[in-house]
Amino acid sequence: MKKKLAIISGITGQDGSYLGKFLISKNYKVVGIDRFNSQNQKWRHHYLKIQNDIIYETCDLNDELGMSQLFRKYKPNEFYNLAAHSFVKSSFDQPLSVIDVNAKAVVRILESIKQITPSTKFYQASTSEMFGGKSLSNLSLNSQFNPRSPYAYTKLLAHFATKNYREAYNIFACSGILFNHESVLRGEEFVTKKIIKFLVNLKEGKSNSKKLSLGNLYSKRDWGSAEEYVTVMWRILQNKKADDYIVGTGQSLSVKEFINYSMRYLKFKDFEWRGKGLNEKMYLNGKIVISIDPKFFRKTEVDRLKCNVNETYKKLKWKPKFFKQKLIQKLIDDEYLLQSFYSKI
Ligand code: NAP
Ligand code: GDD
Repeated sequence: MKKKLAIISGITGQDGSYLGKFLISKNYKVVGIDRFNSQNQKWRHHYLKIQNDIIYETCDLNDELGMSQLFRKYKPNEFYNLAAHSFVKSSFDQPLSVIDVNAKAVVRILESIKQITPSTKFYQASTSEMFGGKSLSNLSLNSQFNPRSPYAYTKLLAHFATKNYREAYNIFACSGILFNHESVLRGEEFVTKKIIKFLVNLKEGKSNSKKLSLGNLYSKRDWGSAEEYVTVMWRILQNKKADDYIVGTGQSLSVKEFINYSMRYLKFKDFEWRGKGLNEKMYLNGKIVISIDPKFFRKTEVDRLKCNVNETYKKLKWKPKFFKQKLIQKLIDDEYLLQSFYSKI
């Protein structure tokens, strides 16, 4: 039987790497779109040992001609659009370039599918950030969107463009509204990786790890596992009908709770939080190890994100295994494995 061919944009990122590995294990031919300067970002592929199994194509998502040529050349069965400016905080500093990659480029890809390969199934990486706000109830597909950053409002445009190409042109175009998902391969600017890398180094007495500065300790996120969520992306494109989906764990923790769980799993004793607001600090054996730096605050924060998992279960027949303590334990165990991998090469 002929192998299915999938193109993944954002192949060098956290999700692109895990999705590439997963599709290879499903016997797909995987074409990964990287950028001219992505070379030093291939460390995730080396760690997952997939670098020789991916056909790399170098093309910026904003390169309209280059992107349309990829559709002519490969006629993909599936296209997973994971490339994006994905860091919410820095999206405030460069809104116009965020619009180009997160919104305009998505419409161009959909146009290419419409004009060149209308049977290609399309997955758009939508995000719980689109809900924004201070949601007090669990978020579902019917919840109101209230984007609070350039990242979120550009993703919302792409989300609705995906829906419109599905409805107007009958293209198999789906959005997965995914809540935060983490892994040892997460970029170091994101809060879970920042915390866990710091605490593991602190535990191991590494000299570069004496003090950590963070922003808002009280925002809450519904954190799941990236390795698990990429399998859901694939599942979404295997359903009979194209649709939108919401994917989370139904559990949320504050940043501070995430730290406390991590401290306990790492068996740190004698740690305590003292002070309030900008003066809040965590002490370990009487010494300050975590403090607040206002430079990490968002101009407009999303205070709480929590998924209504009934929809996830019902539409996808899938339940997450990793959340709360179990997720944190995995992130810490995997951080040790990653560090040991790098100490040997
Ligand atoms: P990530 O690690 O930051 O990866 C982003 C990828 O996009 C990288 O491969 C990056 O390439 C690529 N990229 C950025 N700008 C590009 C451009 N102009 N042309 C081509 N490629 C470009 O993000 P992730 O965590 O894997 O997330 C994957 C997708 O899911 C993103 O769209 C994100 O917004 C969305 N999402 C993520 C989460 C989450 O919690 N992780 C939740 C909901 C939605 P370089 O390596 O060259 O920089
Ligand atoms: N990054 C970061 N660094 N965040 C911090 C820090 C810090 O030092 N201190 C506190 N936080 C808080 C942020 O203010 C935010 O409320 C929360 O920790 C999570 O921040 P991030 O890890 O940067 O992720 P995010 O929730 O903003 O966005 C991620 O999840 C979205 C899905 O909801 C990204 O992966 C997005 O691409 C994704 O769409």
